[in-house]
Amino acid sequence: MKYVNIKMLLVFCLTVTLIFSVCAQKPTLKNAFDGQFYIGAALNEWQIVGNDVSAISLVKAHFNSISPENCFKWERIHPQQNKYRFELPDSFVAFGEKNRMFIIGHCMVWHSQVPKWVFIDSLGNQLSRDALLKRMHDHILTVMGRYKGRIKGYDVVNEALNDNGTMRQSKWLKIIGEDYIEKAFEYAKEADPNAELYYNDFNIEQPSKREGAIKLIKSLQAKGIKISGVGIQGHYHLNRPSLKDIDESIDEFSKLGIKVMFTELDVNVLPSPKNFNGADVSQDFEMDKTLNPYPKGLPDSVQTQLAKRYADFFKIFVKYKGKVTRITFWGVDDAQSWLNNWPVRGRTNYPLIFDRKCMPKPAFFSILECAKSSQ
Ligand code: XIL
Repeated sequence: MKYVNIKMLLVFCLTVTLIFSVCAQKPTLKNAFDGQFYIGAALNEWQIVGNDVSAISLVKAHFNSISPENCFKWERIHPQQNKYRFELPDSFVAFGEKNRMFIIGHCMVWHSQVPKWVFIDSLGNQLSRDALLKRMHDHILTVMGRYKGRIKGYDVVNEALNDNGTMRQSKWLKIIGEDYIEKAFEYAKEADPNAELYYNDFNIEQPSKREGAIKLIKSLQAKGIKISGVGIQGHYHLNRPSLKDIDESIDEFSKLGIKVMFTELDVNVLPSPKNFNGADVSQDFEMDKTLNPYPKGLPDSVQTQLAKRYADFFKIFVKYKGKVTRITFWGVDDAQSWLNNWPVRGRTNYPLIFDRKCMPKPAFFSILECAKSSQ
């Protein structure tokens, strides 16, 4: 009898300890939105090789999807015609697999971060349409072929549109013609028939560019070309774009029967230089003190605004759960965000939800609140 009581007491104590330890666990983003959408982060080289220990531990705890910030871009992965660099991409994919994450490839065809040699022959003459298509085909088959079945979704074409919805005059367009986009998607499907294939762009929540993106997606669909989703980059500001535009674009894109994802979310809290336009990466403005107002820390009032802004986004995202399949932040913590150096170099920006010491900011907690209210 005595023995049975001790045993029961032991079981009771163990159960109580277990319940306490589960309850005491800090909430994580990926658990909070489990069953709704993936929570992703873009990783830079320093993180991929494991040097940025604090950021990596945040990634493991809070994120279940990863995107490569730069290492899959053409200039990095395929710097010369006969030279591919797979070391970092291999480590990136291995990290994602080890941590059971939904791995994204970014990006196959883009006008930026693509070396000059891609568009010219050995004599320096511009390539013909057929020769450039062959290069695109080789590149997509080689990169996507290597990670077949392991990388689950690809930004196949990035930023092909202008803000007014017309086609961007990139070298791809000028040399190949408008069908370069469908060719890229066809080659991607050939390389990995099971991967999700996305069109990715910035400002496509805004009506005129959105219209162009819808037209483009419909034209691919009309030709029977596989497109699985649209990536709205989500490089946002405290006061723009409007929540209405974000809400309407999720609604309109999902009506095309494709997944909608926010693929590069961040919120620039600094003033914009004059003539600054959207998220075009080619912009580079002179530094000036008025453009860098918070070098020593973000004032509480702006911190609060940022938290509210993120909460407003996530209220919309959870409203469209099932249609929105992934929210990826463009970076892990404020220290390494590209927005410290773009569109003005050397600023101190605060666009993410973890601060420079990798501590959660009020925006992190306001996002968690949205998860609670959506359950
Ligand atoms: C940015 C990277 O974050 C920077 O490190 C790099 O110098 C330039 O590109 N749209 C995209 C991303 O699709 O690939 C860009 O990433 C940001 C804008």
